[in-house]
Amino acid sequence: MGIPISYSDGRVRAGLSCAACHATEDLETGKVMEGVPNLDFDSGLITALATNSTAFFPTADIESIRDYIRDTNRTIENSKGEEEALPDPIALENAVDETFIKWRKGIFDTTPDLVANPTQTPDAFTFGAHPYGWNGFSLFGPFKGLSTFNNEVHSFNSDSLSFSEHSDTLFDIDKEVYMATILQNAASKKYRYDVSSNEKPSDFFRSVDDTTNIQGEMKE
Ligand code: HEC
Repeated sequence: MGIPISYSDGRVRAGLSCAACHATEDLETGKVMEGVPNLDFDSGLITALATNSTAFFPTADIESIRDYIRDTNRTIENSKGEEEALPDPIALENAVDETFIKWRKGIFDTTPDLVANPTQTPDAFTFGAHPYGWNGFSLFGPFKGLSTFNNEVHSFNSDSLSFSEHSDTLFDIDKEVYMATILQNAASKKYRYDVSSNEKPSDFFRSVDDTTNIQGEMKE
């Protein structure tokens, strides 16, 4: 349910659509019930099993990535021109996995706030409260709140690098350090940042970014 499988570039790819969490099956009729939360979906386990769960460290219990620095010589130049050490990729990955593996089925954390506070996937019905939803989830912003809402689902929740321009303000993590932390553990070698390259992480990412035309990605 909600996990389309495709084949491209010599690899099998599994996508994750909204339906993985927001639709389920009526066991009696076998029909899909759209908008009913899928309480069987184990997002914590799936994310923990990922090679680079670190990409979503802002939703794990990581008080400070500085606590995971093991080698002070693994440094990069941050956006202020200062040398800053990167967290150890294995130590950080293990800590993030430890958070996600504890989550039970049917819950997920959509808020990148450096605190693991998953919530149960809500139903998506608006009966009696249309268009806002019973809990007011899209109460403000243009297009009856839809744009505010979409910005979250289609930014951090789809691509944690989309927060690189805000990481300093939100997480007290320099943009270059934030990007390097996510990319140094990338599952695909093409996107993996190598600290010994002495390259600026944002320059490295720009050189491998396939979607420079997408809004929200870095542009200068
Ligand atoms: C990994 C599971 C997961 C996926 C995938 C997912 N969501 Fe959600 N969704 C949630 C959770 C959990 C919440 C509750 C977030 C909160 O309140 O902090 C939520 C909240 C919502 C809400 C608000 C409902 C309410 O009453 O508050 C809507 C609408 C929604 N999601 C739509 C979508 C759309 C559209 C997509 C795909 C682009 C999507 N979701 C993908 C888990 C998911």
